[in-house]
Amino acid sequence: MLFNSPRNIAVINASIITVVSLIAIIVISVLEIPYSLITWLSFLIVVFLTALITINGSINKFINEKIRVIYKTIGKLQPRNDKKPNDNSDVLDIVNQVVLRWSEEKKKEIEELKQMATYRREFLGNVSHELKTPVFNIQGYVHTLLEGGLKDDSINIKFLKKSVKSVNRMIALVEDLEEITKLESANLKLNMEVFNLYELTKEVIDFMERKAIEHNTTIAINTSLSKIIKVKADKKRIRQVLINLIDNAIKYGNLEDARIKISIYNFHDNYLIEVQDNGIGIPEENIIRVFERFYRTEQSRSRDKGGTGLGLAIVKHIIEAHRQTISVRSNLGEGTTFSFTLDMA
Ligand SMILES: Nc1ncnc2c1ncn2[C@@H]1O[C@H](COP(=O)(O)OP(=O)(O)O)[C@@H](O)[C@H]1O
Ligand SMILES: [Mg+2]
Repeated sequence: MLFNSPRNIAVINASIITVVSLIAIIVISVLEIPYSLITWLSFLIVVFLTALITINGSINKFINEKIRVIYKTIGKLQPRNDKKPNDNSDVLDIVNQVVLRWSEEKKKEIEELKQMATYRREFLGNVSHELKTPVFNIQGYVHTLLEGGLKDDSINIKFLKKSVKSVNRMIALVEDLEEITKLESANLKLNMEVFNLYELTKEVIDFMERKAIEHNTTIAINTSLSKIIKVKADKKRIRQVLINLIDNAIKYGNLEDARIKISIYNFHDNYLIEVQDNGIGIPEENIIRVFERFYRTEQSRSRDKGGTGLGLAIVKHIIEAHRQTISVRSNLGEGTTFSFTLDMA
C-alpha cells in the first residue's frame, strides 16, 4: 500500500534519508566527534548507503507489485522463454513483450470475430434472398388460382406445375443449407469404408441418366480403367460429390453435342478422379470463386437452371473433410474439368 505511487515512494525515501542524516549529525555533535575529512566521508557513505538501499528496495517492490497485477490480468500468457520477472534489470522488457504479444493476439481474435460476423450477415442475406424468389412466385400463382384462375383450364394446371417447381427449389435450397451446416459443424464424422469407386461411378451415371437424356447429354466413363478401384472414403458423401459435379456438367453443358467424360487415374498413392464436360466453361476471373457459397457466374444465372450455388461449396467441404484436394480448370466456351483425389484402400 505504501509503495502504490511514485510520489509516495519519493516522499518515503526522502524522509528516511533525511532522518538518517539527522541521526548521523546528532550522533556527531553529541559524541563531539571532530569535523575531520574521515568524519565527513563516513557521513557521506552512510547517507549514500541509506539512499541506495531504500530507493532500490522500494522501486523493486513497486515494480513487482505492479507487474504481478499485469500478469494476473493477462492471465496464462507468459513470455515464450518462460522468464519470470525477478531479474529486475529486464523485468520491464519482459512485461513489455508479454503485453505486446497479448495485444497482437487480441487484435487477431477481434479481426476473426469481425470476419465471422460479416460472414454470418452475408450468409443470412443470401439465404433470404434465395428463398424470396420461390416464395413470392408461389404466392403469385396461388393468388391467381384463388381469384378465378382455378376454373380457367388454360392456366390452372400450368400454375400448379409452376408452384411445384418453386416448392422443389425451396426444398433443394433447404436441403443444401442443412448439408452445409452439418459439414461445417466441428464434429463432422465421416463414415469411412472401403468400396469400389468404379461401381459407384457407374451407379451415379445410371442415377443421372434421365436428366442427361433430357439435356441430350452422353456420359462416358473412361474405358481403359480396371473395373476394381478400391478406395477408402465416405461412400455416401463421395456419391454426393459425383452427383453434384455431374449435375453441373449437365446443367452447364454444351447445347448441341454435350459430352461428359469421367476418368480415374493413379496419382501417387491416391486416385485422381476427373469430371470433364464440353460446356459453357467458366471465365478465368470467376474460376477461384466457384467454390464459394451461393456463387454463380453470370453465364449460369442466365441459363436459369434454378441452382442454389451451394453444390460446389458442399463438394469442397466433403473433399477437404477427407483431407484431399479438389481443383478446377476451364476454358470459356470449351469446357470445364473438375478433379479431386481419394485415398487408395
Ligand atoms: N461444369 C461447369 N461448367 C460451367 N460452370 C460451372 C460448372 N460447374 C460449376 N459451374 C459454375 O459454378 C457455379 C457454382 O456451382 P454450384 O455450387 O454447383 O451451384 P449451382 O449448380 O447451384 O449453380 C455455377 O453456378 C456455375 O456458374
Ligand atoms: Mg451445382
